Amino acid sequence: MSKVAVVTGGARGIGRGCAHALAERGFDLVLVDLLAPEMARTRGELEGMGVRCLTFEADVADHARAKAIAAEVEAQWGRCDVLVNNAGKANPKGILDCTEEEFDRTIAINLKSCFNYIQAFVPLMRKGGGGRIVSMSSLNAHTGGVTSAVSKFSYAAAKAGIIGMTRSLAKELGPEIAINCVCPGIIETEVGNSLTKSRGPELAKKIALGRVGKPADVARVVAFLAAEQPNFITGQDIKIDGFQWEI
Ligand SMILES: NC(=O)c1ccc[n+]([C@@H]2O[C@H](COP(=O)([O-])OP(=O)(O)OC[C@H]3O[C@@H](n4cnc5c(N)ncnc54)[C@H](O)[C@@H]3O)[C@@H](O)[C@H]2O)c1
Repeated sequence: MSKVAVVTGGARGIGRGCAHALAERGFDLVLVDLLAPEMARTRGELEGMGVRCLTFEADVADHARAKAIAAEVEAQWGRCDVLVNNAGKANPKGILDCTEEEFDRTIAINLKSCFNYIQAFVPLMRKGGGGRIVSMSSLNAHTGGVTSAVSKFSYAAAKAGIIGMTRSLAKELGPEIAINCVCPGIIETEVGNSLTKSRGPELAKKIALGRVGKPADVARVVAFLAAEQPNFITGQDIKIDGFQWEI
């Protein structure tokens, strides 16, 4: 039986890249996303690569739904070896404009989602003897973002929360489960992003490696952390930004 990887937000963008990278390494994939048509497309791509795929249309902020999905994965496939907490969304509102609901929602999508899926899937990982968890933080967690960037304080707070959660859970879940997070800089996804569209060449001048990132740049590192067995890395946050020193 193949190993199983769960990727939240796996329908498009960086999550889709992670799903592809894990499929290349022989994992069967479970995708969780709000976007049913995009998820169906990605599922077709993964099945075309010769692996199996389950899809769940769900909001990662929903705690009960995460538990129900874990129960369904256990019933159908009986195992979970890797969890990639990728689903997330920036909130461009500044401190005086952001409503309480918008703040709560940003924390729920980006940070509480990690709690939801880690709590739901750890028991199944443990039944199989252990596993690997990788969560998607952001360079914003380190830099706080800057005024010209789309992501502001609530997003930075949520992504920084992922780093703290990762450090603490590495102690709690080891040695059976290793957990890390990655902090991408500017990544140009297939739907594009307004920052790279409007300022791409200008941004690249302030990145040591001379370009913005691609989903595959992140996916390669995620797949290494998730699939390289054994490795001796847990509790870490790893920047994937081409060394972006000022934007
Ligand atoms: N693109 C970047 O420059 C960049 C940089 C740093 C971190 N990130 C992080 O990487 C992750 C992926 O971002 P992306 O750029 O690929 O974005 P994207 O919008 O292309 O993909 C995000 C995916 O997550 C899904 N999603 C969003 N909210 C959800 C929810 N509540 N429930 C279920 N699914 C949900 C979306 O439908 C989408 O398929 C996010 O956590 C993002 O914060 C992105």
